[in-house]
Amino acid sequence: MQYKLPKDFLWGAATSAHQVEGGNYNDWTEWEKETNHPISGRACDHYNRFREDFDIAKSLGHNAHRFSIEWSRIEPEEGKWDEKEIQHYQEVINTLREREIEPFVTLWHWTLPIWVAKQGGWENPKTIEYFSRYVDKIVRSLKSVAYWITLNEPEIYTMNSYLRGKWPPQKHSLLRYIVVIINLVKAHNAAYKTIHNMSVNAQIGIAKNNSYFDGWAATILNYLWSDWFLNKIKNHQDFIGLNYYFHNRIKGFKLNQNENKEASDMGWEIYPEGIYHVLKDLKKYNKPIYITENGVADAKDIHREKFIKEHLRWTHKAISEGVDVRGYFYWSLLDNFEWNSGFTPRFGLAEMDYKTLERKIRKSAWEYAKIARGNAVEIGP
Ligand code: FCB
Repeated sequence: MQYKLPKDFLWGAATSAHQVEGGNYNDWTEWEKETNHPISGRACDHYNRFREDFDIAKSLGHNAHRFSIEWSRIEPEEGKWDEKEIQHYQEVINTLREREIEPFVTLWHWTLPIWVAKQGGWENPKTIEYFSRYVDKIVRSLKSVAYWITLNEPEIYTMNSYLRGKWPPQKHSLLRYIVVIINLVKAHNAAYKTIHNMSVNAQIGIAKNNSYFDGWAATILNYLWSDWFLNKIKNHQDFIGLNYYFHNRIKGFKLNQNENKEASDMGWEIYPEGIYHVLKDLKKYNKPIYITENGVADAKDIHREKFIKEHLRWTHKAISEGVDVRGYFYWSLLDNFEWNSGFTPRFGLAEMDYKTLERKIRKSAWEYAKIARGNAVEIGP
């Protein structure tokens, strides 16, 4: 069976600065050193090898690519801009354009400059102004970007950093959680206005991690987790970026009672049908949707091909029922630094040899390339 995707569909992969670039100096690198956590170090050295990496994307038929700008490189000290670093990202964009790959630029993917973190990070309302000023500088400086993602998964960050106390700054407080999430809403809305002041035609959104809640408490959980943030920014977004990873079945008073028939190397259940429900639910916002992340940690590459195809089959079903999905970004182009889990999880279309930094394209990546080139998924007989 062949499932055709709409004309002009965007196909690509996503990365984030801290996870691939190497050589960063931000609140995470400090935290990695101070606590007993894996060190990001040189990561994939993508900062120096981005041309080679975009050659890989090109060879895989990608026509779009999502990456993030590292704020701590652009503004290493308060109010001091590093023009060389801005130039670096301009080259990143030019390199994508030369390969006819559409850039999707994330402005904040979880890491903060040290000076921002020292002033309280997102707990401090001043960070909203600092962020806006940084966004203004970037949008003024970088030419030829049409799609901006202001924030990556604000609620995953806030949950892990302020509620669970797992990620820097490791706080355990509902009150702080609420303060931070509200500041992130404000930061997005302010950044949205800042960008549109300069560029009327820019397309702006966030990358939102939505789960498929399944069971009696689904409505309330869906409201709290998936809709609350999107409602708050409803008049300040041109598209919705969806990061889909999780199905969450509720049984009795317990969450995550999933069957786990198939799971990734990180133990995350593989449940492609969930993307269909999440997409259908997003239809009510009446905005174009880009799947800004969807991927699987699978070192042996035994699940990835089916994972991609099945998620696309369910995406196709949502599209055929009127959901306006316009692109798909697999997470990730390369194996990379997975936050507190370090380099063990292998999400990449290309496998990394962290000793030699050699990239090897996985078999499943070629299958994804066929889909991208043909703008269609072939499944079964
Ligand atoms: C998402 C993050 C991304 C990556 C994937 C596996 O929540 O946005 O950086 O870590 O999970």
